[in-house]
Amino acid sequence: MFVCMCYGVTDKSIRAAVQGNGVGNMRELREHMELGSQCGKCIQMAQQIIDQTIIDD
Ligand code: FES
Repeated sequence: MFVCMCYGVTDKSIRAAVQGNGVGNMRELREHMELGSQCGKCIQMAQQIIDQTIIDD
């Protein structure tokens, strides 16, 4: 599923960044990939995926 349409970022790639690179918030996620800086609509969803991935691990 695409989370960020503007940059073509999927939930899978966000989860991989959390699990593989220890990403814990949006600021850290944006060090690994471009998202959220166009329309910003994806930011809340991306944050939820980060939080959920941390809880599930
Ligand atoms: Fe992510 Fe627009 S959907 S910046």
